[in-house]
Amino acid sequence: MHPSLHFHDAVPDPSSGALAATSLITPGADVVRGAGPWPREASEQAVAWEEGVITYVGPADGLAGVDPEPFEGCTIAPGFVDCHTHLPFVGWRADEFEARLAGATYRDLHGEGGIGRSARLFAEASDDEVLAFCRPLVREMADHGTTTLELKTGYGLSVERELRQARLARRLAAEAPQTCVVTLLACHAVPEGTDRRDWVRAVCEELIPAASEERLVDAVDVYVEDIAFTIEDLTEVARCASDHGLPIRCHADQLGPSGAAEAALALGARSVDHLNHVSEEGISALGAAAATVAVLLPTSTLFLRSAPPDVRALLDAGAAVALATDCNPGTSPVVSMPEAIGVGCSMYGLTPAEALAGATVNAAAALGLAGSRGTLAVDAPADLVVLDGDAFRHVPYRPGHNPVLHTFANGERVGGR
Ligand code: NIG
Ligand code: FE
Repeated sequence: MHPSLHFHDAVPDPSSGALAATSLITPGADVVRGAGPWPREASEQAVAWEEGVITYVGPADGLAGVDPEPFEGCTIAPGFVDCHTHLPFVGWRADEFEARLAGATYRDLHGEGGIGRSARLFAEASDDEVLAFCRPLVREMADHGTTTLELKTGYGLSVERELRQARLARRLAAEAPQTCVVTLLACHAVPEGTDRRDWVRAVCEELIPAASEERLVDAVDVYVEDIAFTIEDLTEVARCASDHGLPIRCHADQLGPSGAAEAALALGARSVDHLNHVSEEGISALGAAAATVAVLLPTSTLFLRSAPPDVRALLDAGAAVALATDCNPGTSPVVSMPEAIGVGCSMYGLTPAEALAGATVNAAAALGLAGSRGTLAVDAPADLVVLDGDAFRHVPYRPGHNPVLHTFANGERVGGR
């Protein structure tokens, strides 16, 4: 038996409740881009839910028939949607972090270290060891307000082990109190001793068909970079994914410019992620893209000490911008969405309202959950957080502080402090 991820107070009716707070902030159900509409914050608000579904959002004095639990000096917001993580993985790589501080680059460490090293750790670990490593991280995410998250493969680096990682992701998803979406990061690193093109062929002929047949994954991701895969590879994998009804995502322009963002957009990608070196053409294309989310990963930029993308240009162009942790042992050993929001504001220049939209409704769109997760509205799932400042701006204002007092997923308390 695994220890349950439902680890906090037991309450009489675990999926119904009502809360009031000094302020409440939420975006609407539509993706936020360009001119908005940006989330609005209102004071003295309440939210109520029954059987895990929201029944009321509005002024506290308009809530009839129930006494909401009051949270003075606090803010209610939608639960965070972490739309880009690399869980499940096993083992940390803190020595690589230290080596980078001493002057090594991420590229220098690629091979002995990097993705290949995490793949070896994954291959050596048992299923139970992998799950035992991941469970506390998923729980820590709940304690930091994450109610929906992405799980990804990419440390398998063989058809069998990628499928194994996807199965473990599905097992973790079944245990977790949060909503989880699984992505097949089919092309993450070229497996040792394999020709790149041979691996892409195996991905298209064996891996994607098998993952699709077993219904193991909800999307397919490709890492386009000089140390990884090319636009030609992306194009082939995207075609194959589409033949199997799977949307595509892309790690694009992270370490250097490659034109991956524009290429992925042209292939109808649901998201393009990282974007540190996105071109001007990429920015305009993202501004005009109706269905592609620009996923920003500011903590990986911080830990790699690399240059941020031109976030203001992306927003001005009208792009739908999301924020996520990129939780992984190499570039972003971060589970906290408040941390991603804090770095998103201080390093990427987002306003708190832009960051909130990026961490909720826009992130939900990157996971194909637009309109259901990431908003507080009647009939939406009761995924919400109670934060300890009297306005949302306290979240980015206090890096390193966990502002989350309570996290509710589908109306049940699943985390907080
Ligand atoms: O999103 N750059 C590619 N993938 C990850 C890092 C993976 C790793 O180093 O283990 C990222 O940054
Ligand atoms: Fe990533």
